[in-house]
Amino acid sequence: MSQDPFTPRVFSGAQPSGNLHLGNYLGALRNWVGMQGSDYETVYCMVDLHAITVWQDPAELRQATRELCAGYIASGLDPEKSILINQSQVPEHAQLAWIFNCVARMGWMKRMTQFKDKAGKNAENASLGLFGYPALMAADILIYHATHVPVGEDQKQHLELTRDIAAKFNHDYGVAFFPMTEPVIEGAATRVMSLRDGSKKMSKSDPSDMSRINMTDDADTIAKKIRKAKTDPEALPSEPEGLDDRPEACNLVNIYAALSDQSVDQVLSEMGGKQFGEFKPLLADLAVAKLSPISSEMARLMADPAEIDLILSRGAQRAREITRPILRQTYDIVGMVAPVEI
Ligand code: TRP
Repeated sequence: MSQDPFTPRVFSGAQPSGNLHLGNYLGALRNWVGMQGSDYETVYCMVDLHAITVWQDPAELRQATRELCAGYIASGLDPEKSILINQSQVPEHAQLAWIFNCVARMGWMKRMTQFKDKAGKNAENASLGLFGYPALMAADILIYHATHVPVGEDQKQHLELTRDIAAKFNHDYGVAFFPMTEPVIEGAATRVMSLRDGSKKMSKSDPSDMSRINMTDDADTIAKKIRKAKTDPEALPSEPEGLDDRPEACNLVNIYAALSDQSVDQVLSEMGGKQFGEFKPLLADLAVAKLSPISSEMARLMADPAEIDLILSRGAQRAREITRPILRQTYDIVGMVAPVEI
């Protein structure tokens, strides 16, 4: 598409499933903040409807949704500059998802690796919602005609499916209605790995809490986790090549670089030759300095859930200014009889 008629618009989302951690912050949230107020309109979502594709305790889900919203805001997403929503308050997401259920093919859905991973051996017992998850994700994006979606590498296949759904819809109905959304893949440099195993991503589902730095950890906990992080006995190299085959060392240097807004080269030219006994306290101080304002802001926001609920209601109101007309046009294209004034 050389003449792109679509407003540059960013959409992204995360599941409210508890425990935002350093990997979410450096890998995703900081990028999202960076796209805000620039050349794009930005919409960021807590995907509560996606969360219930596997069982969620209702009270915990509500709490996790508010906590994710607090994490977004504390990390720098500004409810004035971005539209912040929880998915269920903008009903057009689910309504468009139904249309997409009728566009996407069984064969496409069966190839989705995230479904295969999540359903595991017991796919017969997975919810129909888990199977349909990627069609709802396509609807999240396309109900805004979003042009750019920042996501991790693991979501690339879902973005390809989103483009396939948009293309098939446009083709079947002979329209150029949905854009071909571009994924903006988060860089490897900001991929944060487990503190216990440098070959695994930092994850909220790792059974060891020592493997990750949670956004709600206090200063002592952060310092302890970094002190106990797995390393090797060598000193830090002065050149990035010296980190080859040293995944744990590489991870800590990457974290230092990301938190201090420097390149790995810059960090190593300063830190090369230091032992971990010397480097780890410097990293701990930096992490505490950068993360404690975020965790205290999260705690402040969580102390007033009514304020969060108000932000989400306002977000939904603004979102629906965009999503209502797009759903109305979609229904019209598909052949649904529209309501008349009575
Ligand atoms: N599936 C995404 C994840 O697990 C979350 C998500 C839902 C999403 N809808 C989205 C991400 C739309 C980007 C755009 O991380």
